[in-house]
Amino acid sequence: MKTLLFFSIPFLFSSLVWSGYLEYDQDVLIPEGWTHAGRVDPSEELELTFALKQQNVHLLEETLRLVSDPDSAQYGKYLSLEEVASLVRPSEVTQKVVRRWLQSHGISNCLTVHTQDFMQCTMTAEVAEKLLQGSRFHHYIRDGQSLTRSSAPYSVHDDVHPHLDFVGGLHRFPPKSQEPRERRQHFKAGLHLGVTPAILRARYNLTAADVGSAQNNSQAVAQFLEQYFHPADLAEFMNLFGRTFPHMSQVDRVVGTQGGGKAGLEASLDVEYIMSTGANISTWVFTNPGRHESQEPFLQWMVLLSNMSDLPWVHTISYGDDEDSLSTAYMTRINTEFMKAGVRGISLLFASGDSGAGCRHLGKEKNSFRPSFPASSPYVTTVGGTSFKNPYKVTYEVTDYISGGGFSNVFKMPDYQVTAVQGYLKSVTATLPPQSYFNTSGRAYPDMAALSDNYWVVSNRVPIPWVSGTSASTPVVGGVLSLINGQRLLKGLPVLGFLNPRLYKLKGQALFDVTEGCHLSCLDEQVQGKGFCAAPSWDPVTGWGTPNYPELLAALLTK
Ligand SMILES: *[C@@H]1O[C@H](CO)[C@@H](O)[C@H](O)[C@H]1NC(C)=O
Ligand SMILES: *[C@@H]1O[C@H](CO)[C@@H](O)[C@H](O)[C@H]1NC(C)=O
Ligand SMILES: *[C@@H]1O[C@H](CO)[C@@H](O)[C@H](O)[C@H]1NC(C)=O
Ligand SMILES: *[C@@H]1O[C@H](CO)[C@@H](O)[C@H](O)[C@H]1NC(C)=O
Ligand SMILES: *[C@@H]1O[C@H](CO)[C@@H](O)[C@H](O)[C@H]1NC(C)=O
Repeated sequence: MKTLLFFSIPFLFSSLVWSGYLEYDQDVLIPEGWTHAGRVDPSEELELTFALKQQNVHLLEETLRLVSDPDSAQYGKYLSLEEVASLVRPSEVTQKVVRRWLQSHGISNCLTVHTQDFMQCTMTAEVAEKLLQGSRFHHYIRDGQSLTRSSAPYSVHDDVHPHLDFVGGLHRFPPKSQEPRERRQHFKAGLHLGVTPAILRARYNLTAADVGSAQNNSQAVAQFLEQYFHPADLAEFMNLFGRTFPHMSQVDRVVGTQGGGKAGLEASLDVEYIMSTGANISTWVFTNPGRHESQEPFLQWMVLLSNMSDLPWVHTISYGDDEDSLSTAYMTRINTEFMKAGVRGISLLFASGDSGAGCRHLGKEKNSFRPSFPASSPYVTTVGGTSFKNPYKVTYEVTDYISGGGFSNVFKMPDYQVTAVQGYLKSVTATLPPQSYFNTSGRAYPDMAALSDNYWVVSNRVPIPWVSGTSASTPVVGGVLSLINGQRLLKGLPVLGFLNPRLYKLKGQALFDVTEGCHLSCLDEQVQGKGFCAAPSWDPVTGWGTPNYPELLAALLTK
């Protein structure tokens, strides 16, 4: 639920009036939990991000298709950042028009990136409100975190409108954390299994010899909430749980600002588990790249990727927001940024979310499911969650009822998944939720899954049981892909890059199919809390299933 505080958009506004608005469909409501803390002083400095219109986006998309399709002659022929830059760099005209516009407002303090498609400029609030007509900046606070955001939509001058995708730093609040939750369950007396590295490695068939050994391999976790991992927690975790396999106990690089506060469960979990499946692989942590109050940390991370030529091959990210709260212009541009990473051979893995199919209240007794972005992006690999059928044993896996999944309402179904998704829809017709709840023409997710329930995590020096969420399954899958990348590098093969086109061609081969259980959704009369259900082959709850490492390695080591 978002609450409307300062501004309401009269329904009378016709689409004509919106002509200067880049993000007319962006939610400007203040999310629950944030409190207003006054108008921003006119002299206060803000840092805003301008997303300049790129060139050759269709060519970029076609290139991504070719380099990610194992049946294409261009498979694995990735581009360098330099090559991406020459492809998408904004035209001279675009660059000139935007610069002139900024300069005409006295804005000259700007940074750019290697691809020149983002500019980040510092200006006072007074100048920002003149530049971006309609904007009104306020302070907001939540749990000690302070932000500046605009309570009203912004428009830009008609001359610059065609040259910009959007301006970052005005609207989007950091979404509520998909923080792994403590989900305590009431098991019968006896020793249930908590998930530890040894349990994961047993379930996914990783032997002690299945660790990284390639020189130039690396993996990363990224987090954008005010969350820190403590190196001492990782060391303690590996000391407790890493006895049975060779591993690293230190992160090689931290990019961004690590605060000094308490460790976050999420941050601890991500690092501890990517380094348990992706054992002995150099690991980076991207943390809070945006430190200025007007920045959007997720966007800052995307900007950073366009400015670093040497990046880890696999990134796992537990971050998502309601698709319906974000402007199409913003999501479309973020998708282009995902493509830019994909053509470089970078694999981006997003958690599918912890609210099942989600629920959006559309009116009195009228609901629909609620997809989450970037999980719903066609250009990333989205990871859902499972639990053990028998919590006392390493048995087969069933749906974890929180596992996020469903269909995008914005992005159409990509070709690589059409057969799989239509197969699912056909085979379960009789038991599908009502059609009014979801959109069968959209990108369907997740693509894969892993255990997401009942993990042990060391945080602030203390081992904590019962930690659950798709933010656990995502780094687990990330580590497995990194191991495979390592084996490919040793054979002189290119890394996996954007996995989906190849993953869907496997048709579930080398994965443990999850066929039992349903995830949650709207608590209303019609669906009664039930979303989609797992089924043989692909499904919108657990994707194709969970990794069987030796078989997956064999299947992905062929070309
Ligand atoms: C991108 O990197 C260059 C140097 O490599 C730096 O000068 C520039 O400020 C960076 N851009 C941003 C937005 O941080
Ligand atoms: C992997 O694990 C499954 C179930 O745990 C087992 O049945 C299978 O034999 C194992 N080995 C391979 C190579 O798949
Ligand atoms: C760990 O990785 C390094 C390369 O980063 C390699 O030299 C070493 O042999 C690996 N250890 C094991 C046990 O495979
Ligand atoms: C490691 O990979 C990066 C990124 O492709 C490349 O620039 C670098 O030269 C590689 N280093 C080695 C030692 O192969
Ligand atoms: C369904 O998804 C398509 C994109 O695949 C979109 O164009 C359409 O507007 C969506 N319908 C609804 C009701 O959201």
